[in-house]
Amino acid sequence: MCGIIAAATEKSVGKLLVQGLYKMEYRGYDSAGVALHQVKDIAHLRSLGKVEKLESKMKKQKPRGKIGIAHTRWATHGKPSEENAHPHVSKDRVFIVHNGIIENYIELKEQLSKKGYVFVSQTDSELIAHQLDFFLSQKHNMFEAMSLLKKKLQGAFAIAAIDQSDDSHFYLMRNKSPLLLGISEEGMFAASDPLALVDITNEFVFLEDGDVVEASASEYKIFDENEKRAIRKITKLNISSEAMSKNGYRHFMEKEIYEQPTAILNTLDGRIGGEDVLENIFGEGSNDLLSNVERIQIVAAGTSLHAGRVAANWFSAIAQIPTQIDYASEYRYKNPYVDKNTLFLTISQSGETADTLGALHYAKERDYLGSLTICNVPTSSLARESDFMLLTNAGPEIGVASTKAFTTQLAALMLLALSLAKARNLNPKLRTRVVSALRSLPEIISESLNLKPKIIRIAKEVAKKDNALFLGRGIFYPIAQEGSLKLKEISYIHAEAYPAGELKHGPLALIDKDMPVIALAPENELAEKLISNLEEVKARGGKLFVIGNAAGNMTLKPKNLINLPECDFLLTPILYTIPLQILSYEVALLRGTDIDQPRNLAKSVTVE
Ligand code: F6R
Repeated sequence: MCGIIAAATEKSVGKLLVQGLYKMEYRGYDSAGVALHQVKDIAHLRSLGKVEKLESKMKKQKPRGKIGIAHTRWATHGKPSEENAHPHVSKDRVFIVHNGIIENYIELKEQLSKKGYVFVSQTDSELIAHQLDFFLSQKHNMFEAMSLLKKKLQGAFAIAAIDQSDDSHFYLMRNKSPLLLGISEEGMFAASDPLALVDITNEFVFLEDGDVVEASASEYKIFDENEKRAIRKITKLNISSEAMSKNGYRHFMEKEIYEQPTAILNTLDGRIGGEDVLENIFGEGSNDLLSNVERIQIVAAGTSLHAGRVAANWFSAIAQIPTQIDYASEYRYKNPYVDKNTLFLTISQSGETADTLGALHYAKERDYLGSLTICNVPTSSLARESDFMLLTNAGPEIGVASTKAFTTQLAALMLLALSLAKARNLNPKLRTRVVSALRSLPEIISESLNLKPKIIRIAKEVAKKDNALFLGRGIFYPIAQEGSLKLKEISYIHAEAYPAGELKHGPLALIDKDMPVIALAPENELAEKLISNLEEVKARGGKLFVIGNAAGNMTLKPKNLINLPECDFLLTPILYTIPLQILSYEVALLRGTDIDQPRNLAKSVTVE
């Protein structure tokens, strides 16, 4: 999604802004731009495509300025193009960058057109520049113009702006879209993502909805939603720049797949004791909450939703708690019935997914017992706004396709299932067994990473095809869904997932020699039935690849079969995810796609 960076220092900031844009590339974008205050005028450069193109334009034109704003755009209104790229400008005077969506843009655009403003882009963002210019023409200063603008706009927005007649400040505004200040002795900075400022400072102020900020190289002033001067806490974040480098791997996704043993270790660290989960790991007072939970409502999107689907099985099997699960984008619109003592549970890597956050805001107005989030970013909106949280501690995930975030979510959700069982005095022996199995999990995952050469052989077959089918049963169906999502998003192969027993109700018609079928076949109570389903595929000439130890008695070529290390059956969904991640990665590598930034996708989806 879009990224904003702004800077005010005593030196030229062009290079620094571009470096910040590079750090936000992982979020997904289609164009980039910068506006640099050169005192006599503002240099305005934009380019379609990668930040590299913008950088080479800057190297040619050599703009210099101590104040500047820059942006990576992920198109919402208007196609990816140079005209639609930010910064947008009004009358060569006001330059703005914007993340989010202005919901009343048609109405505001009409009003401004009647006042003589000419629109040159198809975006909902350009009007912000014109509206500010209009307020400035009414003798307001830039700070007043920003405050007046705030009252006009509806929707979600993070905005940074500069004014040609003010060469010492940049201005900010936030409503429902992340924006923060970075404070350093070198100057004042702002960004929509702290990773953009990782080489500049570790001191951040997270802005709140309704905040307007005026910042110069030496100071910043924040005014809250009621226009009162606000003092906000400075948060220190120690993000190592190693987390932002590929560290010898070809892609961030590859690095993140291999980081999973350590990431899971970090999820478990300090949360399990001798034989059980520790108390209050979701925050002070969370034990009281958990002992009253009778139902769970999960809301999440994409990969995080798949983690929720696995967890729903665990909550039922381990803690005897029924779970309702909904897509974040759908939940609010189905008039959900809230039963008594229901816990509202969100799952999110970024903690900024607009649909999930919107669902939390809605849930807070309903009669839930409380809200809990499983999240990877401690400073995110979900982490700050939920009553309780458990951080997955996976470290920054840069590849757009979620890998370590998913497996650490699963580990965290297993801790929740165990904690719920403990709060209800259920299954003490099983809890001890699973806690011990969790301790061995990082090592078992390391072992599974060694399966890569075998998986590459399968990848070579799948990469030649245009479709793929993923099969699983029971708790492995959501894992099949995750495998299919991973393959389609990074290799652009059309993939679908089915519970294997459903095949004969329709999808079996798709089976022929051109349809690779990737089946998850663990040794569990469903193994026999699953194998019969797979025999049906084989009998119809389907190209079958089986991951799992239950397929031993099928007559499969060894290259079509991948056995996995032994693992407690309750944790096998985590283990079986690993070969599917490697498979997608290797297929995408063979097809030469942009693995870390697949087309059309964004890392943190901050629009609804
Ligand atoms: C897929 C993927 C997405 C995210 C989804 C939710 O690999 O990463 O499907 O899982 O956009 O994002 P978070 O977890 O940040 O709420």
